[in-house]
Amino acid sequence: MRFLFLGDIVGKPGYSAVRTELPAIRQQHNLDAVVVNAENAADGSGLTPRQFRRLIECGVDAVTMGDHLFRQKEIIDTLETSHQIVKPANFPKSAPGRTWSIVETAAGKIAVISLMGRIYMRPVDCPFEAVDQALSEIGDQVDVILVDIHAEATGDKQLIGRYLDGRVTAVIGTHTHVPTADSQILPGGTAFQCDAGMCGPYESILGRSVSRVLESSTSFVPESFYVATKDVRLCGAIIEADKQGRAITIERFEKRINQ
Ligand SMILES: [Fe+2]
Ligand SMILES: [Fe+2]
Repeated sequence: MRFLFLGDIVGKPGYSAVRTELPAIRQQHNLDAVVVNAENAADGSGLTPRQFRRLIECGVDAVTMGDHLFRQKEIIDTLETSHQIVKPANFPKSAPGRTWSIVETAAGKIAVISLMGRIYMRPVDCPFEAVDQALSEIGDQVDVILVDIHAEATGDKQLIGRYLDGRVTAVIGTHTHVPTADSQILPGGTAFQCDAGMCGPYESILGRSVSRVLESSTSFVPESFYVATKDVRLCGAIIEADKQGRAITIERFEKRINQ
């Protein structure tokens, strides 16, 4: 199975580019599945049900989120009813949403799990315990398992990668919006990359307007940070897995959108 994972979709520039480009990308790269992190799709924070539906329509198989999960509260209904979106598995049990999901593709079944890190982030439950629980529930019913580790610290992400090496097909990081040059296959056969990078405007500070963030950060006067517009890129990784669900290759994916 060959699948693409795309990092955090940021605002309209990222969301529109995914919708426009994904059908061709799917064909060009011979992809069996596409999973995207969409936690910043709605004007930089959260995801609306309409955006979710449209992402599925353009060829996305499953959506992961992160700390911005509930920024658009209307998404709760989608989290409760759709099997194509997951909440971070180490969010509270009472939070709406599934802790894992399985989607069928032409090349087999793929399980998707999202986890949050705990350094410089809102305190969440133990990601190690949460992923163990999810993996025991998933059992042998899938061909491939993808884990999105949504975390601030590279160490947190590497820990999850090593903890899951040989137990899942891929562990790919999100949240920091900057693609990292460390894509590798770990010794046990798990593909790993610290951060997929965002799908959004790179002429920015993590997707937001440079001048607004600079003004506010230097003066301490609060400003609303709006989503930037220029140098839009789609970033992530393409992973190929063998029949046993071990990763054979991981390549960084980056597509610059002509504007
Ligand atoms: Fe994000
Ligand atoms: Fe995040």
